[in-house]
Formats: sequence, C-alpha cells, structure tokens
Amino acid sequence: CEHNDPQSTKLRLLVVANRLPVSAIRLGEDSWKLDISVGGLVSALLGVKEFETRWIGWAGLNVPDEIGQKSLTQALAEQRCIPVFLEEETAQQYYNGYCNNILWPLFHYLGLPQEDRLATTRTFQSQFDAYKKANQLFADVVLQHYEEGDVVWCHDYHLMFLPKYLKERNRTMKVGWFLHTPFPSSEIHRTLPSRSELLRSILAADLIGFHTYDYGRHFVSACTRILGLEGTPEGVEDQGKLTRVATFPIGIDSDRFIKALELPEVQYHIKDLKERFAGRKVMLGVDRLDMIKGIPQKILAFEKFLEENPIWRNKVVLVQIAVPTRTNVPEYQKLTSHVHEIVGRINGRFGTLTDVPIHHLDCSLEFHELCALYAVTDVALVTSLRDGMNLVSYEFVACQASKKGVLILSEFAGAAQSLGAGAILVNPWNITEVASSISYALNMPADEREIRHHHNFKHVTSHTSQEWAATFVSELNDTIVESKLRTRQ
Ligand code: G6P
Repeated sequence: CEHNDPQSTKLRLLVVANRLPVSAIRLGEDSWKLDISVGGLVSALLGVKEFETRWIGWAGLNVPDEIGQKSLTQALAEQRCIPVFLEEETAQQYYNGYCNNILWPLFHYLGLPQEDRLATTRTFQSQFDAYKKANQLFADVVLQHYEEGDVVWCHDYHLMFLPKYLKERNRTMKVGWFLHTPFPSSEIHRTLPSRSELLRSILAADLIGFHTYDYGRHFVSACTRILGLEGTPEGVEDQGKLTRVATFPIGIDSDRFIKALELPEVQYHIKDLKERFAGRKVMLGVDRLDMIKGIPQKILAFEKFLEENPIWRNKVVLVQIAVPTRTNVPEYQKLTSHVHEIVGRINGRFGTLTDVPIHHLDCSLEFHELCALYAVTDVALVTSLRDGMNLVSYEFVACQASKKGVLILSEFAGAAQSLGAGAILVNPWNITEVASSISYALNMPADEREIRHHHNFKHVTSHTSQEWAATFVSELNDTIVESKLRTRQ
C-alpha cells in the first residue's frame, strides 16, 4: 500500500514531519487502534492534487519489539503513513529535550533554559546528539522509501538536519523545508551553541519556507551574520549558489468549518450553548497549554477588565479551552499549576453562588463542539507572546458569518501580519491595553464589527491551507536541483 499505485502517473510527495497524522494505540501484540486526524496539514495536502502523498513520521510511542514494529507499519500503510521508530531514550532527549525544551522556547524568544546555560552542558550535548540521531533515523526511512522523481517536503524545527542528511546521500533529490514556528531575530539564534551547524543543514534544502516575510528575513540575517554568507532578495548565496528562501503564509480549510456549521449536531451544540450562556457575552480562548500562548496574560487582562468595568460582571464569560500538551516537560507542568491558580483566584473574586466568570477546561473539544463554540462567541482572544501563525484566529473567523464577532489578536502572532486591520491588534504583555481592548470589542457597534469581519473572512476564505500546500510543492517541484550542486560543508 505504501508504494505507488502502478496505474498512477502522479508524482509522489513524501511529507516528513515529526508527527504522523495518525496516533496509534496498541491493543495487543500485533493489533493497533489508529486515530486519524483530519485537521491541519492533512487537509492542506488535499490541495496538492497532482501528487500522491506519503507521510513519514515518528510513531509517537515506544515500540521496542519487532512484531510491534512490523504490525504497526502494516496498519499505517493503509493510511499511506510510514513510521519512524525511535527508542525511548532517543525520543525523550530529542523530542522533550532538544525540540521542546531548547528549540521551541528559543524560537519563541523565551531564551535558552538557564540551567543548560550554566552547568549541565552534558545534558545539552546529549540532547543535541539525540536530535541528530533522530534526524538520521528519519533520513534512513526517507531514503528507504524514496523513488527517483519524488519530491520531499520536510516540516518544522524537529527536522532541521534532515535536508543535509538527505542531500549528502542523494544530491539530486528535491528537498523542501518549511518552518511552522517563528524564526527568531539573528541575535536570538546566535545564542544557540549549535547555531551554525543548524543553519548550514537547513541551507542544504532547495526551497526554504516561512509563514511571514519577517521570519525569512531573520533567517537570511542569521546566515549573513553568523555564517558570513550573502543574502539576496531570493535567498542565501554560498559560493555563487543560491538557496531559495520565501514566504508561504499557511491558512485553514475554511470550507470544512463553514460547512460544519450547517450540520444538525453543530446546530444542536449552538442552541445548547446559546441557552447556557443566555444573557451573557461570550469571550473565547482556544490554545494548547503552552507558555508561548500567553494564557496567564490573557486571564490577568480579563481580571483587570472586570475590575475596571463592574457593570460587565456577570454579563460576560471567558471560556478558555487549554489543550494539554508536552506534559512531560517540567515547564509545561509549572504553567498548568500557575494557570489553575490564577483562574481559581479570579473566579473566587468575581464569582457568585451560581456562576463564575472564567470557564477553564484542560482538554480538547470535538470538532463539532469547537465549531459551535466559535459560532456563539462574541469576542475571541488570541494573546500569544509569539506564534508562528495561529490558526485559531482563522477558525474563529470562518465560523462567524452570522455573528460577526470581534477578534483581539496579538501582534506577535504571524496571523497579525495577514489579518491586520480586521482584528484589534494588541501587545499581550500590556495587560492594560488588552483590558481596554476587551471593553472596546464588547461595545463595538455592529457596522464596525461587520467591516472588520468582512475583511477577515475574505482573507481566511481566499488564503486556504490547500492553496498554501499547492504553492509550496509546485515551487519546490519547479526547482532545478542540478544548479545547486556544490561542495557542502
Ligand atoms: C506546533 C508545532 C508542530 C507541533 C504542534 C503540536 O504547532 O509547530 O510541529 O506538532 O505544535 O505540538 P506537539 O509537540 O504536541 O507535536
């Protein structure tokens, strides 16, 4: 199943990402339950019509035995997925360690962990070694499945060594790399001990993509300032050879959300939520429970708003969906306790016998429930301290055709650069500004809401995830790889 359909004349696209769009639960020695995710990249790739897609990614769990590995590989093949198996220690050091404890905070301007800077160089080194080892294992699997003419698209900060490892073993392979997070200012990137090696590895790709022009500009500056290479409007030049760097802002599958609103089960949830929140305005936050999302800042701004606007108390509710994530990383555990503490304090302060101002849930919602919640919301609050794009803001807009609610959006989310004037842009660190934006949004006249919504809706429905993927893949496929042959360092 994982090989090309012999009848098909389509080119093959190998999508390589840390996670497969399927999560596996082991039921027995050789039996598996697969949960298939239909969101994000999966629907984006439906736009890449002229290619047949295969996914390569980490199975997401430890499968030490051969029977398990074989049976899972077979089960996944039906979904056109190919697993990469990482043994537990490597996965822990690569994923929880180097990816989520070092690169993720650094790329979001939170700096390197203090203890790694000071004492535990060994930990840092072993996490870096595991990162390279994991990238090698990904490269091995790609090469096992690669067929002449395939196009290989590597995703995200987990796989920055992959372009180099692939090109070292096959120079004519077409390799693209896309970063889903911000790429930080070169002054931040240069604090990373492995800064040069990482840049050179990414530069081995034929096409490098970012969500915003600024992220690409930071990357090019890092290459010029740290590696001494030349930046051009097209990308980065090394000894006369160019690696293309370009902007490809991602979108959502807006039709999926718009159509869902008509489904009876979504209508049912909408009716139910309207009854439950009757007489109150609904404000909404939907975030992974991650420090980059600015959840404490959002909640503190809401508190300030209630403090300063007694007239709104009991007339507005903040629903915060905080989806647990990376729960083995200590920083994330600390954040959960911190958020619970401030939510408890504010509910204690402003709640009544029968009601609380913040409904905070540590869970994800079913797609239908989420659409309904977006649809009944009056004001969505996205207060990311940094965020590659933030598609929650797009999803909210897609579900607001009838309500025309207001979007308060952090200027540090990539989405601020595309939605711009349609949203109320805020600096999430400025609690006073966010509090007064909440007040402005709740009191906004209908004609202003309409104009802003129209602007956002037009953007969200005309810059879809399908178009994003199709553009990247077609530009990658058009790359003339021969022109990039060179001695790589
Ligand atoms: C971000 C990253 C993705 C990642 C996602 C969820 O959006 O860019 O690559 O998959 O977060 O994080 P997780 O660590 O659970 O995969």
